[in-house]
Amino acid sequence: MNKKVEITICLGSSCFSRGNRDLVSFVQDYIAEHKLHDSVNFKGGHCFGACNKGPVVIINGQQYYSLTRQKLGELLNDCFNINK
Ligand code: FES
Repeated sequence: MNKKVEITICLGSSCFSRGNRDLVSFVQDYIAEHKLHDSVNFKGGHCFGACNKGPVVIINGQQYYSLTRQKLGELLNDCFNINK
């Protein structure tokens, strides 16, 4: 019944240089810290066609733009009902 949260991070060159290089490890650390390995499917993708709005991450099919550690952390907290 529990459906995994799908997180796809853009590893295209624009998003990568705009911040996703760092956000990859941020998400990996977040998953480890909260022991979410069984609840999430985290993978990389290549250019979602929104390079000028990067860095882009897709969570459950929804694209999120101009992400920072703080913004992404808030999205993940909402997604997993974690209050920090
Ligand atoms: S490189 Fe990420 S949307 Fe194009």
